[in-house]
Amino acid sequence: MSKNRTIGMWLYNNGGGDKVGKKIIKKLKDRNIDVIDNINLRKAVAKNGNILYNDIKLNKLDLFFSYNAGEQTQYQMYLYKALNRAIPMINSYDSFELTEDKFHTSFVLGNKGIATADYKLCHRDDGHELKKIIKKWDKMVYKPTDGWGGLGLTKIENEASLDMLMPFLNQMDLRYFYVEKFIKYDNTDFRVDIVDGKFVACYGRKANGTDWRTNVTSGGSVFMREANQDIIDIAIKACKLCGVDIGGVDIIYDLEKEEYVVLEVNGIPAFATPEQEKMGLDFNNKKIKLIVDLIDKKTQKKDL
Ligand SMILES: Nc1ncnc2c1ncn2[C@@H]1O[C@H](COP(=O)(O)OP(=O)(O)O)[C@@H](O)[C@H]1O
Ligand SMILES: [Mg+2]
Repeated sequence: MSKNRTIGMWLYNNGGGDKVGKKIIKKLKDRNIDVIDNINLRKAVAKNGNILYNDIKLNKLDLFFSYNAGEQTQYQMYLYKALNRAIPMINSYDSFELTEDKFHTSFVLGNKGIATADYKLCHRDDGHELKKIIKKWDKMVYKPTDGWGGLGLTKIENEASLDMLMPFLNQMDLRYFYVEKFIKYDNTDFRVDIVDGKFVACYGRKANGTDWRTNVTSGGSVFMREANQDIIDIAIKACKLCGVDIGGVDIIYDLEKEEYVVLEVNGIPAFATPEQEKMGLDFNNKKIKLIVDLIDKKTQKKDL
């Protein structure tokens, strides 16, 4: 008989996350895996070889499932990294850190043959480089490399608006500029959910009439949409290249190049909210099952 296993979990509670968390805990219990829930590394301390949360030695757990805030504080990230040196984590620290950065993600994907937006990264003192590139690209998007929800993205339509924007950017004391070519697309995207290399679900998002960003936070709306095999293959490959066990891949169709382009990989893709479930997005149980299978697999103890 295999020994009892115990994992730590930190899963978001809003938007139906609490219900999802309970289901995961129950299903793991059925497999003799105990869960210590609500472990926020913000409240943990490290001391003499251990990472302590109350009296629990997190580094002695069989696994840690981190599925809460994308934007974590430096402290949380620092402990995430340390903990992952001791035990398996979903997602692994390295993959999570990678997907939190849009430039690094595009760099990795582009290098391995996945189409991404054309981009340019330059030192903050080389802002004049952007002048050259906008001539070539016509329109571009300024992106904070660690943003989310479409926040901070700025579409630059022409040289004149670049000239206007530069003084503001220079004041912000940035380390670098990251810009992407503005891709001509139909203002809809595909969000493709992958767990452990398996396709879970796809849905679409559509920007509202006045915005070019599909994010719900930017006024976009979710709609039912099926993926074709090309899209599924791209999403699976993107997750594999980034090393994420769980990923939500954002894909748009470039009307000029006539190809699918990966915009980003999300390391904590949301479960369907109760409202979205009513719309017909019914992938939560499938995703929960695949996550439970994955945790089970990753915590198997080999008999010595
Ligand atoms: N290069 C681009 N060309 C055209 N639209 C883009 C480009 N990059 C992003 N967008 C639009 O902006 C949205 C947000 O961009 P994304 O890179 O996914 O950042 P976020 O993390 O804020 O969601 C995308 O869903 C897409 O609608
Ligand atoms: Mg996005």
